[in-house]
Amino acid sequence: MQSKTAKESLTIQTQVVLPNDTNVMGNLFGGRLLQWMDIVASIAAHRHCKRVVVTASVNNVSFNNPINHASIVTLESKVSRAFTTSMEVYIDVWVEDHVSGVKLKCNEAIYTFVAIDQNGSPLSVPELIPETKEEKTRFEGALRRRQLSLILAGKMKPSDASELKALFAPSA
Ligand SMILES: CC(C)(COP(=O)(O)OP(=O)(O)OC[C@H]1O[C@@H](n2cnc3c(N)ncnc32)[C@H](O)[C@@H]1OP(=O)(O)O)[C@@H](O)C(=O)NCCC(=O)NCCS
Repeated sequence: MQSKTAKESLTIQTQVVLPNDTNVMGNLFGGRLLQWMDIVASIAAHRHCKRVVVTASVNNVSFNNPINHASIVTLESKVSRAFTTSMEVYIDVWVEDHVSGVKLKCNEAIYTFVAIDQNGSPLSVPELIPETKEEKTRFEGALRRRQLSLILAGKMKPSDASELKALFAPSA
């Protein structure tokens, strides 16, 4: 299977925050943002493997700044690392100033997708080759995040998490 670069999966989606997307404070509802992230990230995962993909886990989401009604929101998504059948995908969320057009980074999230066949069985995906400095940093951290996610899901014993052990007890 031919390796792919991260930029081959780049997916960009721009939305405007409408009244139906807001919470009682008049800001973007977190659940709506999670939905937008899931869609843009699933397209990036699909572009990487050209298969049907399903969300296996939402590994990290941070809501750093509220996003106001009528904001123009851009979501940028790329595969950060591919394993055997799963792919880690990063989503960066930017809000555009209406006057200056300057984009401010508001949120970041990490999702994991699995490629599946028509019976729902996992399928192998191409390897990912990181190119930029940021892509390499995200690639290197992905194994650690995968181990943490699998432990939290009860699918890995903490004692098997080699990367996490190295992080918390470097001399062990
Ligand atoms: C995701 C799914 C296909 C995994 O199936 P499974 O039988 O657990 O398969 P496996 O245990 O072989 O895991 C497959 C891959 O998923 C990864 N994975 C599974 N759960 C994970 C988790 N919580 N976090 C990170 N990776 C996970 C495994 O590490 C494995 O990756 P690898 O092949 O790259 O090593 C299956 O659980 C599923 O269909 N879930 C529902 C998906 C869905 O409907 N999503 C929409 C949400 S409503």
